[in-house]
Amino acid sequence: MKVWAIVPAAGIGRRMQSKTPKQYLNINGRPIIEISIGRLAALPYIERIVVMLNPEDTIWPSLRLDQNPKVVCQSGGDTRYQSVLNGLLYLQTLASADDWVLVHDAARPCVRLKDIDTLLHELEGHPVGGLLGSPVDNTLKRVDSRREVIATVDRGDIWQAFTPQMFRFGLLLDALTHVDRRSKTITDEATAVELSGHKPRMVEGNRDNLKVTQPTDLELAGQILNLQALET
Ligand code: CTP
Ligand code: MG
Repeated sequence: MKVWAIVPAAGIGRRMQSKTPKQYLNINGRPIIEISIGRLAALPYIERIVVMLNPEDTIWPSLRLDQNPKVVCQSGGDTRYQSVLNGLLYLQTLASADDWVLVHDAARPCVRLKDIDTLLHELEGHPVGGLLGSPVDNTLKRVDSRREVIATVDRGDIWQAFTPQMFRFGLLLDALTHVDRRSKTITDEATAVELSGHKPRMVEGNRDNLKVTQPTDLELAGQILNLQALET
């Protein structure tokens, strides 16, 4: 059984409000994408890391990340799921239906290798796959368009979804192809798998697996990475 990785990195980071796409912004002096790919590249069991780039990307070549023979780049799509689908289509000639494909956001540099190992371990033999996440701690409120609270959501069975998300190659390809045909919008792979009638398994990961999204996340991610460096 082989493990392949896809790193969606074709977004423009609208919420970051920076001219440079957020995956190329530096944290502690290193581009976010370099840190994220570096974490996956440290796992010897990953066969190949397919990085999905925006067709207008001009920065990637300067980072020389594909000097690592496991790293290849391909063109992403207009949405995150289309980027991932393009990656699966690229892998189609290499991967078998039962292989694992691990999808990890370029914008999540703080993922811990230990958590990826746990994900693989807990999903061993699982027919579908699953994802890293963590239970929600705060009370959740539903608000209306005026931001007035209209309901309190029971958080008892609510988890936040992180990446990596890891699924059987054939199953994920079918699920995303289906989503594409129905022109649905989804923001993670698990949703596509759920829509196909499967139940992805949730695996608890450390909550410091932040997705760098807003400008203030840059500082926070830097501090998380510094703390992680002290732990090892
Ligand atoms: N992504 C992608 N292709 C797209 C859109 C997003 O590969 N068409 C990638 C992003 O580069 C990012 C990951 O998917 O690594 C998670 O998406 P998100 O955090 O939403 O990034 P952006 O879409 O770039 O940010 P925003 O939604 O604020 O514009
Ligand atoms: Mg987005």
